[in-house]
Amino acid sequence: MKVLVTGGAGYIGSVVTSQLVKAGDSVVVLDNLYQGHRAAVHPEAHFIEGDLADKGLLDRLMAQHQPEAIMHFASHTLVGESVEKPFLYLGDNVQNGLNLLQAAVDHGVQRFILSSTANLFDDPESMPISEKERIVPGSPYGESKFILERLLYWMDRIYGLRYAALRYFNACGAASPDLGEDHDPETHLIPLVLQVALGQREKIVIFGDDYGTSDGTCIRDYIHVLDLAQAHILALRALAQGSRTYNLGNGRGFSVKEVVETARQVTGHPIPAEIGPRRPGDPDILIAGSESIKRDLGWRPQYPDLVEIIDSAWQWHQKHPLGYSDK
Ligand SMILES: NC(=O)c1ccc[n+]([C@@H]2O[C@H](COP(=O)([O-])OP(=O)(O)OC[C@H]3O[C@@H](n4cnc5c(N)ncnc54)[C@H](O)[C@@H]3O)[C@@H](O)[C@H]2O)c1
Repeated sequence: MKVLVTGGAGYIGSVVTSQLVKAGDSVVVLDNLYQGHRAAVHPEAHFIEGDLADKGLLDRLMAQHQPEAIMHFASHTLVGESVEKPFLYLGDNVQNGLNLLQAAVDHGVQRFILSSTANLFDDPESMPISEKERIVPGSPYGESKFILERLLYWMDRIYGLRYAALRYFNACGAASPDLGEDHDPETHLIPLVLQVALGQREKIVIFGDDYGTSDGTCIRDYIHVLDLAQAHILALRALAQGSRTYNLGNGRGFSVKEVVETARQVTGHPIPAEIGPRRPGDPDILIAGSESIKRDLGWRPQYPDLVEIIDSAWQWHQKHPLGYSDK
């Protein structure tokens, strides 16, 4: 299949691109390199540097490449930043999604996969969190993803655009020692902890140890990026049978202290940690209920083990201590 991947130079998009290429699909990547890295894009993918705000570019791209499917990763992605700059998220994220949907509909694209988020569930009533859970976006970022989910619902009803909204919990790990996570600024726990092991940070600050969990630190669901990629490929093949929305996680929770301790074991580094104040709005526990995608598509996480997850990330960070910029 010919697939347009927006944000395919970013962390998750670059891994999904490489897995699509391996599966024999033909990939066009659109990325403005605002966060992404040209070196992360698989050499067999066709790369276009450009912005989703550029409607003319989207129109030309669709006419020239005629993708059969779109995977939409490109986004502003930071929960905290979205509270400080709500217009960037409720503006750009939504408008860029609309531009892409307009181009998709104009050019008859019939399959669409959206990177959605666990930030739709700020106040869950049950754990693990299934797709039946009520939606309470935790930030303008989460709200922007929910608006995109709703836009897709209408595009399906009106134009028959089949979509999958995949709500990732915490993406982590590296696809290989040469394909991993490189954000600037980095806000995700595992790369931050590994930066301490590399000597790039003095210590890790744990945001609060008085949560309602066994060791007092927040529990989160970490899903290996290769498992996410597999879910995208299965969802893409299944879209002919109809649109769908899935929560995607490992199904197991690990506390912040467990992550730090496991990173100490994997790296052999003491990784000094300090307890800091809570961050506003952090729920105690977030664990995905991924039974629907398991039942419908036979998806199973292949890398659910925290040691394996951190080890894959560690191999990438050791080989590329400066990320892609050291190429
Ligand atoms: N990383 C996670 O744990 C996580 C969890 C839930 C959801 N998500 C979602 O998954 C997607 C990918 O996340 P990621 O961690 O790979 O992010 P990322 O920042 O590494 O990748 C996003 C890519 O999109 C590009 N981009 C941003 N705005 C663009 C625009 N206007 N036009 C063209 N390109 C643009 C960036 O340059 C970057 O390469 C995002 O939509 C994010 O919201 C990520």
